[in-house]
Amino acid sequence: MKKFIKTISVVLVLNFILSVTAFAEPGFAYTDDVLEEFSPKWSQILADDTVISVTPGAAVGELRFAWLSSSTDSNPSFKVSESSDMSDAEEFDVISSDAIENLRSNKVTVTGLEQGKTYYYTYTENGIPSEAQPFTVQPSEDFTVLYVSDAQIGRSGDETLEEVLIRDTCGWNYTVEKMLTAYPNAAFAISGGDQFQSADSLVQMKAYLSPEALRSLPVANTIGNHDEDSTLYGEIFNNPNEVRELASSEAGTGYYYTYGDVLFITINSNNDFMFDTAKVLRKATQAYPDTKWRVVTMHHNPYSASLSDNDFSEERLFFSSLYDLYDIDLCLSGHDHFYSRTDPMYAGKITDGEGTVYVQSSSASGSNYDPLPETTASFTASAFDVRVPTYTAFTFTEDAIIGTTYRTDTDEIIDSFEVADNTTDSRVNIFTAIISFFRTLFSMI
Ligand SMILES: [Fe+2]
Repeated sequence: MKKFIKTISVVLVLNFILSVTAFAEPGFAYTDDVLEEFSPKWSQILADDTVISVTPGAAVGELRFAWLSSSTDSNPSFKVSESSDMSDAEEFDVISSDAIENLRSNKVTVTGLEQGKTYYYTYTENGIPSEAQPFTVQPSEDFTVLYVSDAQIGRSGDETLEEVLIRDTCGWNYTVEKMLTAYPNAAFAISGGDQFQSADSLVQMKAYLSPEALRSLPVANTIGNHDEDSTLYGEIFNNPNEVRELASSEAGTGYYYTYGDVLFITINSNNDFMFDTAKVLRKATQAYPDTKWRVVTMHHNPYSASLSDNDFSEERLFFSSLYDLYDIDLCLSGHDHFYSRTDPMYAGKITDGEGTVYVQSSSASGSNYDPLPETTASFTASAFDVRVPTYTAFTFTEDAIIGTTYRTDTDEIIDSFEVADNTTDSRVNIFTAIISFFRTLFSMI
């Protein structure tokens, strides 16, 4: 398990601004003109009760969809065609179940898709088909994934006010547009949690799904602390390989999927019953033992720049110990609403290569930022203390994971780094887990 990280250019932004200049308040990247142009779209967003989500499937060639419909919609259908006129369309099974507010949750898993091909899909509400929406299955070699977190629609003020929701939604739409302009061929996106401010808000859910590009771009969403207390997350996102957990949240559980030679594992870090997290990691790595790369997403960050070197949080002690054991190359988080990245970490210590790199995204919409502490821990390799949304593009190649982080107002690169890995050979059992836990604990004393 040798891993090497080299910073290509930490000079681009010397991000350790040690004086506290930021406050927990919003900061949007868009101009007044952009907001003015966006605002009339709000009524359409509110009216779109059956907005559809697209999520990655279990592997390349599979894609998943989910939408809500009224309880009177007894026979929803979903079709995929290679033509925009939907000729020779193939119909896929829709699995429907009860959802919040007397709605129905409709889920579809589409399989047999070919890399490099463009397809079209339609779905129905009370028998009326939607417009045909295109999507392209991106090749799984040298592919790019866009990472964001905490769009948290409704966080910038009183979430009952329409103006608050409009400005947060505008910020999120702006970030999606920016990152897809820079990376139009991204395979999919990952959101690190807190998609909306209130877990059961249908309006905020519709606002989160409102960017038109999300009809075609799959997004793998994570259960944040703002998402966990409602079933809505599990009703509107159709995640693959969900792992049954003993202490699952109302929103759901961890899950996993692959794309090419990468295993992606999404952890529900609100669930602090560690046997559940270990189970998700075990199931995922047993199902896909040989992928070159292993990437975890969890909402809370064991090594956020907001934490100290000897922070005894459960995230540090339990989660990161498990990541050591399971040879996780990269851990993606959010929650603290500013960007930070660590050096490689193993057993609670910075290494010169071996271990996991922890990357935390800022707010994807601009709805809220937290301040950096006056001094940052020794493991913080980069942090960005400016109230501007960020996103990170990860390109997975045979030799390295190439990470590039952008601020969305100027499109400037604020961090650029590489993670490279070689082997994965751990055999994990209860004894190695205990040893890993104590190794991490002793490193902090
Ligand atoms: Fe958040």
